[in-house]
Amino acid sequence: MKNDDVHKGFRRRDFVMTTAVGGAAFSFIPSLSYGRRSSRKDKSKKVAIGFIGVGGRGRSHLRNILKRDDVVIPAICDIDPKAVELAQNMIVKAGRPKAVVYSEGDYAFLKLLERSDMEGVIIATPWNWHTPMSVAAMKAGKYAGVEVSAATTLSECWDLVNTYEETGVPTMILENVCYRRDVMAVLNMVRQHIFGELIHMRCGYRHDLRDVKFNPGVTFGEKARGEARWRTQHSLKRNADLYPTHGVGPVATWLNINRGNRFLYLTSHATKSRGLHRYIVNNPAGGPDHPNAKLKWRLGDVVTSLITTYGGETILVTHDTNSPKPYSLDFSIQGTNGLADFDYNRQRIYIENKSPKHDQWEAMNDWLTKYDHPLWKKYGDYATGSGHGGMDFFVDHAFVETVKRKVEPPLDVYDAAAWSSITPLSERSLAEGSTPQYFPDFTRGRWINRKPVFALNDDY
Ligand SMILES: NC(=O)c1ccc[n+]([C@@H]2O[C@H](COP(=O)([O-])OP(=O)(O)OC[C@H]3O[C@@H](n4cnc5c(N)ncnc54)[C@H](O)[C@@H]3O)[C@@H](O)[C@H]2O)c1
Repeated sequence: MKNDDVHKGFRRRDFVMTTAVGGAAFSFIPSLSYGRRSSRKDKSKKVAIGFIGVGGRGRSHLRNILKRDDVVIPAICDIDPKAVELAQNMIVKAGRPKAVVYSEGDYAFLKLLERSDMEGVIIATPWNWHTPMSVAAMKAGKYAGVEVSAATTLSECWDLVNTYEETGVPTMILENVCYRRDVMAVLNMVRQHIFGELIHMRCGYRHDLRDVKFNPGVTFGEKARGEARWRTQHSLKRNADLYPTHGVGPVATWLNINRGNRFLYLTSHATKSRGLHRYIVNNPAGGPDHPNAKLKWRLGDVVTSLITTYGGETILVTHDTNSPKPYSLDFSIQGTNGLADFDYNRQRIYIENKSPKHDQWEAMNDWLTKYDHPLWKKYGDYATGSGHGGMDFFVDHAFVETVKRKVEPPLDVYDAAAWSSITPLSERSLAEGSTPQYFPDFTRGRWINRKPVFALNDDY
């Protein structure tokens, strides 16, 4: 996610803040009296959370967790000594004891998972590691909080589900955008039937990642920095929606996917691939004779998938990361009463018989303020200092609270599997000329009776 301020479009003074915790350490926040109450069991105890992967994203989780005095961090794991050093510095600077480090080789995380003092782990490693690490965590009896996407193949999706069902130990997919303030206000509006019956959604990941995929210059792979070490390879090898969950996660919460509804099938389309080659050729560090200019990139510049749900809704999902554009997740939601079209830079809505002018958009500010989600009203002041405009606070908070209380996470292994499966399903659809691909029912029929839980708890 991009580090934008989600509060654009909100009038800060309109918020009713029920806490005054500001930037202080997070140990106690008064509970609100809405929604279903969560288990109070063990609520005051400290919980031990480890970290696997303390690169850019792992350290942003660490930053949030270090603000909490209900969490101890006994150990961290990363194979990059620089990342370990930066993480240790953060821990020490926060006045905490140094964490025990596991860094000897790709499987050092298994040693960390053997520790009996660890109750949960936050996994923020390259995509290919997410499932093996989550599976190992569940088998070791540790709650896994895994970054997005959680899996890269259908068999990995099943590995997550099967391991959860065998061990009873949960994995939570850490999809922070589900907690974005505007996304949650829209969820609140959905639940209060403002849009009527939902019909069509649009979402996606439209983010110019060219300077992330090549860093420095036109370098990627082992000699590169940050995500260019591993992420770029996927664009070389796979034509698919490589990163679906930031868009689809929020939409899935609006549509109660896996909880009374489910994804049925998708069809995908891809454009030609131009952006990455062009970037290499035009880059001062590259040029037409650079060896990377000879590479054939599989990933189409824009990959579009259309999902049909059991409930009769359609979802248009876009993956678009190789050409110049302002960042956008491109949300739109349409129901029988009207529609909204919103993101950081554009927020408009039209609701029949409620919007002031017939067939004309109105600004969404007043709606977003009126339907601000109770969790944001409760924690907004505190959350604002955390990453991505505040949503990172919520996703880390939800993970910590579920580990602490030993309850099921609000975004679970079935969500992780269904959302992540869009990558292999879109890949197969594209390979077969945009044929429909059916989603496995990862819940094995339980979606029919499972009830919505996301953001219905009084605390997380
Ligand atoms: N939710 C969000 O908003 C968001 C934002 C950024 C990244 N992410 C996701 O977070 C994950 C990490 O991204 P990042 O930007 O931090 O990448 P990164 O390359 O900066 O960090 C990954 C870290 O994992 C370590 N690593 C690799 N293999 C390992 C192994 N076998 N054992 C232990 N450590 C290992 C690397 O050394 C590196 O420090 C990715 O899945 C990415 O998609 C999510």
